[in-house]
Amino acid sequence: MSAGLDIAVLAAPVADSALDELASVLVDCVAGGASVSFMAPFSHHDGLKFFRKVSASVADGDTVLLAARLDGRIIGTVQLGLDTPPNQPHRADVKKMLVHRSARRSGVGAALMTAVEDEARQRGRWLLVLDTVPGENGYRLYKRAGWTESGIIPNYALFPDGRLCNTAMFWKRLDQ
Ligand SMILES: CC(C)(COP(=O)(O)OP(=O)(O)OC[C@H]1O[C@@H](n2cnc3c(N)ncnc32)[C@H](O)[C@@H]1OP(=O)(O)O)[C@@H](O)C(=O)NCCC(=O)NCCS
Repeated sequence: MSAGLDIAVLAAPVADSALDELASVLVDCVAGGASVSFMAPFSHHDGLKFFRKVSASVADGDTVLLAARLDGRIIGTVQLGLDTPPNQPHRADVKKMLVHRSARRSGVGAALMTAVEDEARQRGRWLLVLDTVPGENGYRLYKRAGWTESGIIPNYALFPDGRLCNTAMFWKRLDQ
């Protein structure tokens, strides 16, 4: 893992400076072609709008927002979605695992995954679920982190440039 890397949970209200850096990470990921809900062109304003909504969800207790800082600047993030139905109190969703292209391939993604799994454990959420595009960077990260792939849904979403992509559903139990 990179020296100078720090991973922290961001409490609500998330500071404007942090929202700005989080938006920059998201914009960079979309510009790099990642299928993470958004289409190109995706502006900094769009990114800020998204993370302001996330901040509101953090304030409601529905989301845990983590940020990876390298030398003080946010270069990665991931979320734990806690807003599950009453019959799924033991489950949570891992969402928006994003690392700026300038900081990739040095273990930031793996460190964010370890941190978000720890946050889930602390909240009694022992079953985690996520989906990702098969064959992309996230897919390999989740396999390496011991997640189980349960199947592929064809044509589930679009890449930012409009091409269709499949999604692979993953799950992980934290109590075994
Ligand atoms: C997926 C993503 C978060 C991974 O982030 P990352 O910080 O690069 O992840 P890691 O560094 O832990 O691992 C990435 C690769 O670097 C390698 N690596 C890790 N540390 C390394 C080091 N010190 N030296 C060399 N290689 C290293 C890993 O083995 C891995 O290799 P592989 O992809 O060839 O299997 C990032 O690619 C990303 O943001 N993608 C766009 C958004 C996205 O698609 N997110 C997933 C949505 S579900």
